Amino acid sequence: MTKKILILPGDGIGPEIVAEARKLLQALRAGGLDIALEEGLIGGAAYDAKGHPLPDETLAQAQQADAILLGAVGGPQYESLERPLRPEQGLLGLRAGLKLFSNLRPAILYPQLAGASTLKPEVVAGLDIMIVRELTGGIYFGQPRGVRELDNGEKEGFNTLVYRESEIERIGRSAFEITRLRGRRLCSVDKANVLEVTELWRQTMIRLAADYPDVELSHMYVDNAAMQLVREPKQFDVMVTTNMFGDILSDAAAMLTGSIGMLPSASLDAAGKGMYEPIHGSAPDIAGQGVANPLATLLSVAMMLRYSLDQAAAAAAVETAVGRVLDQGLRTRDIAAPGEATVGTVEMGDAVVAALGA
Ligand code: IPM
Ligand code: MG
Repeated sequence: MTKKILILPGDGIGPEIVAEARKLLQALRAGGLDIALEEGLIGGAAYDAKGHPLPDETLAQAQQADAILLGAVGGPQYESLERPLRPEQGLLGLRAGLKLFSNLRPAILYPQLAGASTLKPEVVAGLDIMIVRELTGGIYFGQPRGVRELDNGEKEGFNTLVYRESEIERIGRSAFEITRLRGRRLCSVDKANVLEVTELWRQTMIRLAADYPDVELSHMYVDNAAMQLVREPKQFDVMVTTNMFGDILSDAAAMLTGSIGMLPSASLDAAGKGMYEPIHGSAPDIAGQGVANPLATLLSVAMMLRYSLDQAAAAAAVETAVGRVLDQGLRTRDIAAPGEATVGTVEMGDAVVAALGA
């Protein structure tokens, strides 16, 4: 049956990088992949057109799609809007509305780019980490939240870090299952020495471990995990953590690989339906210049093929094509060594599509 893919370009460099992914999807369709492509509005682009960062039509389109490809949201021109109208709320609304609780953020260092990392090559060579971030709970969504005025007139801001056992169990099982398919070592990251909710997190992970005797479970406090990520990142196989810790650690892990412009992500629901997006943001500083690196978006298409469309061979073909263009020496600005020649967004996208058929 034809699989419906919803494309949400969003803001900043979103439309440019997504255009390259559309080209790739069209090439795959021409090669026999049974997909139909649809477009929708999200973020600031949706606010400009419809007055809301997540219009009802977009949520309905997303609910009907088999998979979603998102570019990026946000930009300085939207920062003064009231919070519910900001572009980020479009993204958070989709995550919550579609119950995409399991966020997979791989950090893989392509050997061709070992020199692009700010860490020594021997520390990062061969790096292959998967961060599993809980995405629909924790402090991002906990109630109550807000800013209130105290009796003395002083303002007080507050957010709530809350996890139910069932939420922890759901993300825990997702992480154990993924770990089974990789190096079988799972590190759960918490702050159990200070926060009761993450003490429950740790106890729940320990309870679940009994069902996955083939996986080795370890625990680490988040501050130590941040330090270990830059000290000796190759000690990790899979890390599982809360929404906010995962937000922070995944940016750190991304930078180990040299450029955040290389890394895709998947956000999955319980049935494997997913939203796929590069983990970098909308990069308003380079938007419209044709210099953004489209590879994270193309690799997000590969994740979509693997996790939502059951097309492991096509996923591997896309990943191989990306490796080939790196072998050919093609570099966008963000992954070029000083003085090295660079290509633009479109050239890079064309090269991957060409390498796919090679
Ligand atoms: C991410 C981003 C988002 C987040 C923002 C844009 C809301 O930083 O996907 O990591 O904090 O989750
Ligand atoms: Mg983030």
